[in-house]
Amino acid sequence: MQTEIIKIDSTNIEVAKIKQAADIIRNGGLVAFPTETVYGLGADALNPVAVAKIFEAKNRPLNDPLIMHIADREDLLRLSNEVYKITLDLVDEFWPGPLTLVLKKSQDIPPIVTAGLETVAVRMPDHPVALSLIRESQTPIAAPSANLFRRPSPTSAQHVLDDLNEKVDLILDAGKTNVGVESTILDLTQTPFRILRPGGVSLESLRTIIPDIEPYNGNKILAPGMFIRHYSPKAKVILVEENGKVQIDKINLLASEFAIQGYCIGIIAKEENKDKYSDFNVKVFGPTKNLNLCAANLFSILREFDKEGAQVIIAESVKEEGLGVAIMDRLRKASGRENKV
Ligand code: TXA
Ligand code: MG
Repeated sequence: MQTEIIKIDSTNIEVAKIKQAADIIRNGGLVAFPTETVYGLGADALNPVAVAKIFEAKNRPLNDPLIMHIADREDLLRLSNEVYKITLDLVDEFWPGPLTLVLKKSQDIPPIVTAGLETVAVRMPDHPVALSLIRESQTPIAAPSANLFRRPSPTSAQHVLDDLNEKVDLILDAGKTNVGVESTILDLTQTPFRILRPGGVSLESLRTIIPDIEPYNGNKILAPGMFIRHYSPKAKVILVEENGKVQIDKINLLASEFAIQGYCIGIIAKEENKDKYSDFNVKVFGPTKNLNLCAANLFSILREFDKEGAQVIIAESVKEEGLGVAIMDRLRKASGRENKV
């Protein structure tokens, strides 16, 4: 199959382009599309044959369930028979936006989408292209991140092409995504409600609506398919969690040791430390104070280092609050480590 790429301006969406993409969805094909978090690889969620193509294209195991993307609140009632007031409070506050809700599933949903589970993950993305595509397709769209299984999620159309060329019918290219890490997954089927994956919506902001939400516990694999060493680049990733000068010294020491052995090194640093590793190839993900920017740049930096042939990537840590929880989770997973207690 040939992959077509169409540039689309999110501030001035051309209907013909959306119609072309929606036709593909309705005919059981695959369309990669932008969301506010990362690019998704979409298919008609109510067509099991189309959904199977997603798993095949990504090499994704069938026991890893997909998120259903909707554009209107009413669609939620079709996907779950157990939508309570508290669910709607969350929807009012955070949708459209990077929050995925796990609910009891309705009978309409093909088992392949939920990997046979009795629950379904649903979200309404905050991106005009995604919303138009879902509405025009007149069906919920099942979409994982549009990367090969276990590669970093794509934050640009080029990343999608690098992983899925000839495996997807069409890529809608609306430029870089804003958030850069995936949605927060909140399980509403167990009490207290629990975060299964930290992401674009922070625990702190969720707690403004539901104070007793359980924080994410990275030591347990709570969501199916959340394997360790997810989001990995080809290089070995080492995350250095000390602070201040200790961190800088340790990174320089590690980098020198690997360099002496002939390895090609990459360092991911915060803006204020970028000049502290003068012997090495440094990429900056953002200043300490701007975790949004750090999140937005993280996956593309991992991919850039891959392209440059880095064999060892040494990363600075960020503070674990707000979006920092999601950033540290992805870095720990990239480094093949479980989260610390
Ligand atoms: O930001 C995002 O969430 C992106 C964009 C494209 O929307 N999507 C995304 O999908 O990250 P994916 O497939 O890469 O991750 C979805 C994860 C699954 O790996 C699984 O852990 C969890 O969502 N999940 C899906 N259905 C679930 C369910 N019924 N119960 C628990 N976890 C579920
Ligand atoms: Mg993914």
